[in-house]
Amino acid sequence: MKAKRRKLNNTRVLVGITGSVAAYKAVDLIRRLKDEGASVKVVMTDASSRFITPLSIELAAGPGNVFCGMFDNPMAHIELAVESDLMVVAPATANTIGKFAQGMADDLLAACFMAYRGPVVLAPAMNWRMYESFSFKENLTLLKERGAFEVEPEEGPLACGEYGKGRMASVERIVEAAKAALCEKDLLGRKVVVTAGPTREHIDDVRFISNLSSGKMGFALARAAAARGASVTLISGPTVLALPDGVAFVPVTSASEMREAVLEEAAGAHALVMSAAVADFAPSVRLEGKGPKEDIEGGLSLTGNPDILAEAARLEARPLIIGFAAEAGQDTARAEDKRVAKGADYMVFNNVSDPEAGFDVDTNRITVLGGGSPVSHPLMSKEEAAHVVLDLLIPEPGA
Ligand code: PMT
Repeated sequence: MKAKRRKLNNTRVLVGITGSVAAYKAVDLIRRLKDEGASVKVVMTDASSRFITPLSIELAAGPGNVFCGMFDNPMAHIELAVESDLMVVAPATANTIGKFAQGMADDLLAACFMAYRGPVVLAPAMNWRMYESFSFKENLTLLKERGAFEVEPEEGPLACGEYGKGRMASVERIVEAAKAALCEKDLLGRKVVVTAGPTREHIDDVRFISNLSSGKMGFALARAAAARGASVTLISGPTVLALPDGVAFVPVTSASEMREAVLEEAAGAHALVMSAAVADFAPSVRLEGKGPKEDIEGGLSLTGNPDILAEAARLEARPLIIGFAAEAGQDTARAEDKRVAKGADYMVFNNVSDPEAGFDVDTNRITVLGGGSPVSHPLMSKEEAAHVVLDLLIPEPGA
């Protein structure tokens, strides 16, 4: 992998906690950031310490790593700002976001923000009426225009008893946003279309033919491309995965729906990455309701599905195309044949009989075919594998 910052290890993160019931989640957030290898310092507002004690936060962050009072150390706001690579404010209240936007520095956190110059991640948490208010939206928009990244709150029951959009994003989403904020934006201005997951080919309304794809590889690709600044369209068959932030999503079920979506989105895109496991066959006839067992047992007639990748390769304004080849075994020859036959620029070989690679696991072991000799990579997370694949979109200097 090229030496670009995509992880949190050796990153100095300044976490800001403000006054919201979601403040208790900061404990988990701090632990997760530390698990990822970050060193964490925390600034708490007065209001936040009504929801969670500095002692609880210190247990997670470590002794001496929690700062509250503006005047405990008169230089703390400058030292903390200068010594941080990333600032994450979670939960971020309307009041604190307002202070950040309007240049107020009347508490330690707001003063740190004003003195700080690096990437900022904000995870708002508040009542939905406050989240939708004109003044809040204006302040948030201002901060986003200046480069801050918002991890949008989720919709659901709120602490006040109302229902709406205002619950702080999950810790997982905030950690992903923190990683994305540090990523070099080397795909800025490029449209990348990613396919993910399985397709389902219905026999009738309740039965279908499909495969074991979980969508993890494709979702990791979409998340990584968005973190690198690309405008991403994720076309996915049915999965149970949470949608990545900042990605346009096109849900599909069958191969023919995926084909339609890919041909529409890929025309004019910079790249198409086909990690979906498209079912090779579909029942020739779809029965209505729950078809009689005997009609199905009698003999299921199957028809080959369209080859989506091969069709995309014939588009006039064709994108750079990267396919994935799911092979059972170590031999890459079939995958190379597929690359040539389908017209892909690259084919990413993965051995799906390897228990650490392929379907429904968090890791992969890939070999990239095309553009010269095959390049084999060691076992890595699907997130890292996604970055290796996306590096193919960035020509090496002098190449
Ligand atoms: O989703 P996960 O659980 O994370 O698993 C990841 C994965 C194993 C599904 C993924 O890494 C992978 O290998 N995806 C490709 C699966 C596949 O369909 O392989 P294939 O060798 O049958 O197809 C080769 C290429 O042609 C693929 O890019 C496929 O998307 C494409 N294809 C295949 C059939 C078809 N009718 N149309 C296509 O476009």
